[in-house]
Amino acid sequence: MKTSAPAKHSKILILDFGSQYTQVIARRVRELQVYSEVVPFNLPAAEIKKLNPNGIILSGGPASVYDKGAPQIDPEIFSLGIPVLGICYGLMQMAHHLGGQVVFTGRREYGAGMLQITNGSQLFDGLGNQLDVWNSHGDEVTALPKGFLAAGRTESSDFAAVEDRQRKLYGLQFHPEVAHTPRGKEILQNFVYHICHCAMDWTMGSFIEEACRRVRRQVGDEKVVLGLSGGVDSSVTAALLHKAIGDQLTCIFVNNGLLRAREEEIVQRVFGENFHVRLKYVDATGRFLTALKGVTDPEQKRKIIGNEFIAVFQHATEELLAQDRQNKARKHGGYKFLAQGTLYPDVIESVSIGGNPAAVIKSHHNVGGLPEKMHFELVEPVRQLFKDEVRQVGLQLGLPKEIVYRQPFPGPGLAVRILGDVTPERLSILREADMIVQSEMKASDWYYRVWQSFAVLLPVRSVGVMGDQRTYENTIVLRIVESQDGMTADWVRLPYELLARISSRISNEVKGVNRVCFDISSKPPSTIEWE
Ligand code: XMP
Repeated sequence: MKTSAPAKHSKILILDFGSQYTQVIARRVRELQVYSEVVPFNLPAAEIKKLNPNGIILSGGPASVYDKGAPQIDPEIFSLGIPVLGICYGLMQMAHHLGGQVVFTGRREYGAGMLQITNGSQLFDGLGNQLDVWNSHGDEVTALPKGFLAAGRTESSDFAAVEDRQRKLYGLQFHPEVAHTPRGKEILQNFVYHICHCAMDWTMGSFIEEACRRVRRQVGDEKVVLGLSGGVDSSVTAALLHKAIGDQLTCIFVNNGLLRAREEEIVQRVFGENFHVRLKYVDATGRFLTALKGVTDPEQKRKIIGNEFIAVFQHATEELLAQDRQNKARKHGGYKFLAQGTLYPDVIESVSIGGNPAAVIKSHHNVGGLPEKMHFELVEPVRQLFKDEVRQVGLQLGLPKEIVYRQPFPGPGLAVRILGDVTPERLSILREADMIVQSEMKASDWYYRVWQSFAVLLPVRSVGVMGDQRTYENTIVLRIVESQDGMTADWVRLPYELLARISSRISNEVKGVNRVCFDISSKPPSTIEWE
């Protein structure tokens, strides 16, 4: 098992039994300024010992310990002398493997409960006698393993919190990591600081220093190229690499003609002028729009844009090489490394329970194919970080809020927000409408409170009236959603006044639009983008 943990830092390992909250646990621990890492549930005790964590947390999971093929821990882990906190299914694993009794109730206890704290466990230091907690479990502990005592009970369970102080083994039937357990963070804090004796040494300042050292070690005096999109992840990666290796980094910014209004100006200003990053700007608008001419199928659009991007990027790299050959000061050899803004949620080997636990690694669809095709080695300096941590790093490196807190924007750009044919005229209509949406969202401060807010141009014209004139013009849809991670989403209940202002500005100011609709679909069953 490879771990990217800094050797001398405190560290909590989280064994993933497939809970939807596994990543939340990891984030909560990091919020306590302690490094945490998610590893598969079946990591052998010997491997864990080598990783030398200060503590281990066993996540919850959807299985029952009695299910055929249920994920089982290596029970040797409980004898390593490392403190362990089992949450929900993690507690069941602990009880099951250490000689307690777990029963399958056949019903899931789900929802809020009240925990009575019964024996002054260190886990609940400073938390009083009772706590609101959030339950979501099917199995239940009915007899404790030898050495264990009850530390808290709920109405439905005598063993809602248990501990073996001697062996430093702790278990909670409820979920301390979720917001519905309001003082859960303090429970985790007690475990991490007082039971595992972790130091608060995971800060973004220390991360930046270490990441820079690591990058320098990895790339030596070789050259690195990065496809800068202007999004948060690639921007922070660029700023970090620039700090680490200066001019050994070259960013390529491809204008595919599908960007929002003034996007190319912003990126060139921030990175070229303010940061003095070596930036190659490629205007490939004509090439992309020609390739997209007459294409209306969404998948086809995406495929064309992906392929064109690889071709343009490859060509730009060759041009850079030719320049380097002329410029005697620069190393002549090729670009050995490609930098990517891969984040931690993309690399966690998440287990899927229900059948065989399978290791699934998500890949970043925008740059797929580039490393293989061009034989790059990858530099991924933020692959340990969650999104909120990447933002903090960005701020510390001096990136403006405008970049650090920007909303996600899809790689294929406005092409997937123009239904039907992508033409210069339709792009210009959508850009103007989109600019109004962005500026009103920012002015009302809603921009930073939602996941995404944008305009979509439909291939539908409808009748309207302007003055005495009948019009027959385009329809714009407003898509404004809230979401945690883009996987599910809901439409935002924006104030009517704001919707009214956006609508009237678009139909008054954008030539060619006479109707504005508001999308009130959630994901699922809809998606966030329209294509
Ligand atoms: P959907 O439309 O699938 O979008 O609900 C979920 C999130 O992903 C973004 N998205 C993309 N991001 N390249 C990206 O980098 C893409 O091709 C792409 N397609 C969708 C979308 O904006 C939303 O945040």
